[in-house]
Amino acid sequence: MNRFPVIIDCDPGVDDAVAILLAKQLPELDVRAITAVAGNVEAEKTYANAHKILHVANWDVPVFMGAAKPLIGAQITATGIHGVDGLGGVDVPGAVIPPAPQEAAWDAIYREAVAAKGELVLIAVGPLTNLAIAFGKYRALPELIKRIVIMGGAATLGNTTPAAEFNIYADPEAAEMVFQSGVPVHMVGLDVTLKSYLTAAEVDEIGAFGSEQAKFFHSILQNVLAFSTKLGLPGVSMHDPAAVLYAVEESLFTAEEAGVRVECKGRITRGKTVTDLYSDAQFPEKNAVVVTGVDRTAFVARVKELLKEY
Ligand code: RIB
Ligand code: CA
Repeated sequence: MNRFPVIIDCDPGVDDAVAILLAKQLPELDVRAITAVAGNVEAEKTYANAHKILHVANWDVPVFMGAAKPLIGAQITATGIHGVDGLGGVDVPGAVIPPAPQEAAWDAIYREAVAAKGELVLIAVGPLTNLAIAFGKYRALPELIKRIVIMGGAATLGNTTPAAEFNIYADPEAAEMVFQSGVPVHMVGLDVTLKSYLTAAEVDEIGAFGSEQAKFFHSILQNVLAFSTKLGLPGVSMHDPAAVLYAVEESLFTAEEAGVRVECKGRITRGKTVTDLYSDAQFPEKNAVVVTGVDRTAFVARVKELLKEY
């Protein structure tokens, strides 16, 4: 088994929560830290939610607080989907939230990157502000990161605006810094995460596994499931879990190399990930791998298997 050091940078967030539940069950992931960033909800809440999720998972991983707002512009949130608390209004009795460590998320990322001697993988499933600050503060960091797997962007559509996906739209300048960092970026975007969904029946089936973790999974997804159904979607997209599974089991997915840039100036396209996947004109370099497809049956089977192990 190829076990490798990882930091999960996230904005919990109900799908971030599922991603963390899965990550614990994947022996390939040596999760060195979880770093929280403002995104779905404010940074204080994403930090607290990371601890709540780890309490549910019965998992001891250091958590660091990161950026409270994007590099430029106003913060946006997604409380309509994730709830004001960020976990669908689900309480986690018994979870203890310690004060945030003095060491900021970006400093922890650098420290762990140095310790991992170039083997560290970043799985970033929220806005990319923490990573951008880390790259801006530590010039040597790009050579120390093996690859970055993000949930973010899309080659073909947006969810927050017609052009932009939430994590990129929340901090386009940060995303552009990450794509231009020189570290290979694997973009698990809406093109594939909208196909990586669980139906209501599949969510109920997992909830019926009966463990505390399965019941937590089922409870936190009810609001976003209702929202997805109202939109006419076949189920609830497992955006962040798809990125975590991609990081370990690429065979479930299809992907293509591409040049990717982030539009930061567009009046109506700000936050769009512009790829040269389908265009005659090609960007000068293939700086990313864009994940475009998933074997949904196999994906759902793996999610079930991993959650059933609790
Ligand atoms: O667009 C989906 C992404 O935005 C997911 O990471 C979700 O958690 C939100 O952060
Ligand atoms: Ca997220």
